[in-house]
Amino acid sequence: MNKLSDCIINKNSSYIPIWFMRQAGRYLPEFREIRKQNQDFIKLCLDTKLVKEITLQPIKRFDLDAAIIFSDILMIPYGLGQSVEFIKGEGPVLGNLNIDKVIKTKKNEFIASMQPVYNAIQAVKEEATGKDIIGFVGAPWTILVYMLNKKSPKKDFDIKNIMNEQHSGDKLLKKIEETICSHIENQIKSGATVIQIFDSWAGLLPDSYLKKYCYDPTYRIVNKFKSSKIPIICFPKGIGKNYLDFCSAVKPSCVNIDYDIDPMWIKKNLKNVSVQGGLDPKILLKDYEVIEKEVKKYLEIFSGSPYVFNLGHGVLPETKPETITYVTELVRRNK
Ligand code: CP3
Repeated sequence: MNKLSDCIINKNSSYIPIWFMRQAGRYLPEFREIRKQNQDFIKLCLDTKLVKEITLQPIKRFDLDAAIIFSDILMIPYGLGQSVEFIKGEGPVLGNLNIDKVIKTKKNEFIASMQPVYNAIQAVKEEATGKDIIGFVGAPWTILVYMLNKKSPKKDFDIKNIMNEQHSGDKLLKKIEETICSHIENQIKSGATVIQIFDSWAGLLPDSYLKKYCYDPTYRIVNKFKSSKIPIICFPKGIGKNYLDFCSAVKPSCVNIDYDIDPMWIKKNLKNVSVQGGLDPKILLKDYEVIEKEVKKYLEIFSGSPYVFNLGHGVLPETKPETITYVTELVRRNK
């Protein structure tokens, strides 16, 4: 069994596996080089050969413990017929939502459109021997937010805009959940050994809505794959002390924590779950002294319990690749 799976499934705490969210991305010159020649981001995510190459870039450079497949959570809206574009400086922009078209998209049509992603997982698997291969999806709530809001929600985002769509929202949420399950199933069939579920906008939900939009749908997904023995890492970002309720309701094998939650509180309160991440990605823009102190803080707090080193969100584009080398060495040297 590879190191990341071993830590999560067997709760092995003798080795701290390390990988980074957004480890393949704009902070790497070799990624920027490919990106410059491939302006259409979705098309890039569907180019098996390039997806394989980009996925392996951080593995070759840093020898991390896991390769996360280069793709995007917005491949789900795209595969359901809603257009997705990435505009420089603006982030993702989705086209108008035609709910009938989405609902009518057949499972095999969706899978056929994602075939290059599955082929890329197989191709990565052939080369990345001894490494876990992470497949991923967005959680139903986060995908619903993008499909209805058509861009990343900003601070002035009003949850009522989405709740007004209650009727269509419920139908849509079910379709999204089914599609997420097909996407996970096919990533596992193609060789993914770990799945991560990103609920990047869980923190927008008022407490009274968490059960319906976050816990329940995520539980159903996690539970569906329990028998496969594939570890599932959940990342309900920004829910504060509700991490505790989340873990009792969803029972994930591993939970990624964000940088707003106190890791000491997590260590004291979360039981029977492996923990991943936490360090604020902004710390990686600071001096090595500060970085060392912060990295060691997480290592000390979680020593003796199953912990996967990672960040509390993705690597920022301003990060120097040498900093990733530095952090990886710190974690590996830790005994
Ligand atoms: O982690 C990895 O290395 C795997 C690849 C990966 C990407 N997106 C590639 C990407 C993963 C796991 C994602 C997940 C994702 N995508 C999330 C969940 C995690 C999170 O960040 O909260 C979300 C919300 C998205 C949607 C998305 N995709 C946004 C908001 C953006 C624009 C913001 C940004 O950082 O540019 C993207 C684009 C995107 N996805 C890039 C990459 C490398 C940048 C594309 C570019 O080169 O312009």
